[in-house]
Amino acid sequence: MNLIAPSMLACDFGNLKSEIDMVNKSNADWFHIDVMDGVFVPNISFGTPIMKVLKEYAKKTLDVHLMIVNPDKYLENFAELGADILTVHFEACTHLHRTVQRIKDLNMKAGVAINPHTPVSLLKSIISELDLVCVMSVNPGFGGQSFIENTYDKVQELKSMINDSGSNAIIEIDGGVNSNNAKKLIDCGATALVAGSFVFKSSNPTQTISELSSIIN
Ligand code: DX5
Ligand code: ZN
Repeated sequence: MNLIAPSMLACDFGNLKSEIDMVNKSNADWFHIDVMDGVFVPNISFGTPIMKVLKEYAKKTLDVHLMIVNPDKYLENFAELGADILTVHFEACTHLHRTVQRIKDLNMKAGVAINPHTPVSLLKSIISELDLVCVMSVNPGFGGQSFIENTYDKVQELKSMINDSGSNAIIEIDGGVNSNNAKKLIDCGATALVAGSFVFKSSNPTQTISELSSIIN
């Protein structure tokens, strides 16, 4: 089964509880949670207080995407806050292998995200350790940006690397996902699609999630 992960960054924070309930009741598979520090990316999103609300009310997998420098400092914190999948950025980790092991030791699934300029080939020595690779299809920092077209080639290259290595990693796509590119991304080898604006800025988010889910399944 292929998966939809609505990005809560695009939700109405004035009605956070009802937005969480909407996702709980929808055909979505995961909650995608974007944590930004204003240093790794040029924007600050949210941290612990919002994570606590999600932990309390969300009934699906918490897929946490850390867009922060020095993520090692916060791995335990996010384990305690209920992250099921914890994704760090390749570009933010000097000792990525150690970071990935620590995430797994804390009983979370380990993900690595790569920015649009980062070649897939740089993951070769770590791919067998990963549960998820997040291919950024926009430059991280903001919702609502346009999808970068070279993502398709990167996903195909990554899929064959995964197959060759025997890794169980799944491929997640993050940024500018909509009903026009969803199917092609799955055909290239992706399994999980993050969708922020396309879901939450639509007139009927529940229906949009169902439509996206039926396009890819
Ligand atoms: C971007 C974030 C994304 C973002 C996706 O830095 O990592 O998860 O919320 O939003 P859309 O789907 O609007 O591009
Ligand atoms: Zn994200």
